[in-house]
Amino acid sequence: MTETHSPDATEQANPPRRNFLVKFVAVLVGGVITAVPLVFGGGFILNPLLKKKSSDEDSDGFTFIGSTNSLLPGGPPRSYKVTGAKQDAWTTYSETAIGAVYLKMDEDRSVTAFNASCPHLGCTVNYKSDANAFICPCHDSSFSLDGERSNEIPPRGLDTLNVEVRNDNEIWVKFENFRAGTAEKIPV
Ligand code: FES
Repeated sequence: MTETHSPDATEQANPPRRNFLVKFVAVLVGGVITAVPLVFGGGFILNPLLKKKSSDEDSDGFTFIGSTNSLLPGGPPRSYKVTGAKQDAWTTYSETAIGAVYLKMDEDRSVTAFNASCPHLGCTVNYKSDANAFICPCHDSSFSLDGERSNEIPPRGLDTLNVEVRNDNEIWVKFENFRAGTAEKIPV
């Protein structure tokens, strides 16, 4: 004779609770599994937006270039490399050369900064002391010391940059590049 077993009241009450716990754990584990790639993937996708600025660049975009002591009032312009963080879509290269500027100091000790990039097609211009002018080695664009073009080759004069003298002798420049080949000065 077969003995039948009928579940008691406790056993009948447990299955729903067990089911709930199983579902809860499944949802929890699923959430973690979904969240991990989202966090790391999201960080990867947003990476270019999270880049830090160069240590030499302040929050206004000015970069420390050099000391006023390196310039003579009314003297020749001097060129300076500009270093900073350069980045492509996903990688930041810190403290790499990002351009060059010419600084000159007038007799009244005011400082002018030019981007050294030729507005014709982007070569770097040279200061020629014998001509007392900026000359581009690529196609002979010529500029006076105040940055005005001296011939018709470049579409505009040298691009001036915002410059500030801080703490008596620190020269800070807001370095920007501008589109070559256009009469207008268009930041790029
Ligand atoms: S790039 Fe300077 S003259 Fe052409």
